[in-house]
Amino acid sequence: MVKVAPSILSADFSHLGDEIEEIRQGGADYVHFDVMDGLFVPNISVGIPVLKSIRRTTDLFLDVHLMIERPIRYAEAFCAAGADLVNFHVEADSPENILEAIKITKQLGKKAGVTLKPGTAAEALEPYLALVNLVLVMTVEPGFGGQRFMADQLPKLEAIRQRLDSVNQDCELEVDGGVDPETAALCKRAGANVLVAGSAVFGKADRAAAIAAIRNA
Ligand code: DX5
Ligand code: ZN
Repeated sequence: MVKVAPSILSADFSHLGDEIEEIRQGGADYVHFDVMDGLFVPNISVGIPVLKSIRRTTDLFLDVHLMIERPIRYAEAFCAAGADLVNFHVEADSPENILEAIKITKQLGKKAGVTLKPGTAAEALEPYLALVNLVLVMTVEPGFGGQRFMADQLPKLEAIRQRLDSVNQDCELEVDGGVDPETAALCKRAGANVLVAGSAVFGKADRAAAIAAIRNA
């Protein structure tokens, strides 16, 4: 069964604890936590203090998506703040530093993921594929919720699933951007097993129904 990871970027930040409790009761598997620095992407979101607060209020799995330049600088801090998994964009640093960030994260007992922007080819994953717990494929340009799903990423998703089947079968394959019940079905068919959804969950009054619609797509 696929996992659903609502992205709190589309939640009401003035009631974040309640929003998270609602998706927990609604059957969410992960909380997807988007961190933006205004440099790697043209937007600024939330960071370490907010993650710490969330960690105190929920035991849901916290899936942190770092959209920041040189993420190695903050790998340790996000792990200490309560991340269960930290995703590093391969475009955000040198391969040496991404490898080091993965190592730091795993040494701290957390899971590590690597992430691709839409314009980055699957081959860019090769140095990391055997080491990570999750690969995150962006199906919008990172930076904002509510964008249109890029169906041209589906062949890349399929290719990555095939590679993972041969080199790292336990690795999860996550999709982020424009996921709704309709596009979720395409992602599943292409081999994704974790579906991030911001507006398609928090934009709906009935979060449990929204999560179920994506899961059962
Ligand atoms: C975008 C973020 C996404 C975003 C997805 O840069 O990484 O997680 O919240 O939002 P939707 O599901 O609305 O496209
Ligand atoms: Zn995200």
